[in-house]
Amino acid sequence: MIAISNLYYAYPSGKAALSGINLRIEKGEFVAVVGHNGSGKSTLARIMAGIERPSRGSCTVNGIDTRDKTKFLELRRTAGIVFQNPENQIVFEKVHDDIAFALKNLGLAQDEIERRIDEVIKSMKIERFTDSFELSMGQKQRAAIAGVLAMRCECIIFDEPTAMLDPRGKKDIHNIIVELHKKGFTIVYVTNVIDEVLSADRILILDSGSIKHEFKRDELLENVETLKSFSLEMPLIMDIIVRLKGRNVDIDTSARTVDELVENLTNVMGGSK
Ligand SMILES: Nc1ncnc2c1ncn2[C@@H]1O[C@H](COP(=O)(O)OP(=O)(O)OP(=O)(O)O)[C@@H](O)[C@H]1O
Ligand SMILES: [Mg+2]
Repeated sequence: MIAISNLYYAYPSGKAALSGINLRIEKGEFVAVVGHNGSGKSTLARIMAGIERPSRGSCTVNGIDTRDKTKFLELRRTAGIVFQNPENQIVFEKVHDDIAFALKNLGLAQDEIERRIDEVIKSMKIERFTDSFELSMGQKQRAAIAGVLAMRCECIIFDEPTAMLDPRGKKDIHNIIVELHKKGFTIVYVTNVIDEVLSADRILILDSGSIKHEFKRDELLENVETLKSFSLEMPLIMDIIVRLKGRNVDIDTSARTVDELVENLTNVMGGSK
């Protein structure tokens, strides 16, 4: 789905933000990207969405070279991006008009535009003619996701979409992302909430503009020291599992959610469900 080869990117100021990036993301994969402030996560997300173009090397999305300006609309229809601050994505007063504007730019007919808006406002549980600016932060983020879904993008890149939300909003948007993955979307998920990486198939650690380490979700347990070496925390569920293992509790390590952890723990204890 996404192929990045020997990527180097410097901002116009001359500052190198990314270098030596080689990465393949398969269709339907869920990849989490973590790293400290300034490590290059947003720059990488913007490169994948075609907002920035590689200074050297290449980035293709479904075979579309993001440097090819003639493929701009095709790229828009393939990969969408959701930012940290949903307010940056709102242009018009009404949710409907915001989504409609992007679809008009694709050259779609009015009835098709309305059909798609109907579909996405229903799936994101938002109101068609609500004033976008009056929505809660969480609802604004739902509206931003609705906009991407209306474009029928196969790949959605999320750049810390829960960072500005309260705990309930964080959980809500995270659940939506997990559901989108289950429906077959390719997900790139930049997050600073380490617990959220448990939902991903693969985790990339970015540091000083390079991918310093990557591992599969199932290899998380073996990579506890790696996370520590980048001063990253360990997901709470993994921390509990590691501690239980340290006390010789023979627990299944596959849990991704608190419910699964409780289930696995119950099994070890031979308790009833
Ligand atoms: N518009 C810009 N112009 C110049 N340099 C920039 C610009 N945006 C980011 N940078 C620099 O590029 C590097 C990578 O920034 P980036 O925003 O990609 O990091 P990040 O990992 O997303 O950080 P954060 O966790 O704070 O969101 C940083 O050193 C940053 O200062
Ligand atoms: Mg960022």
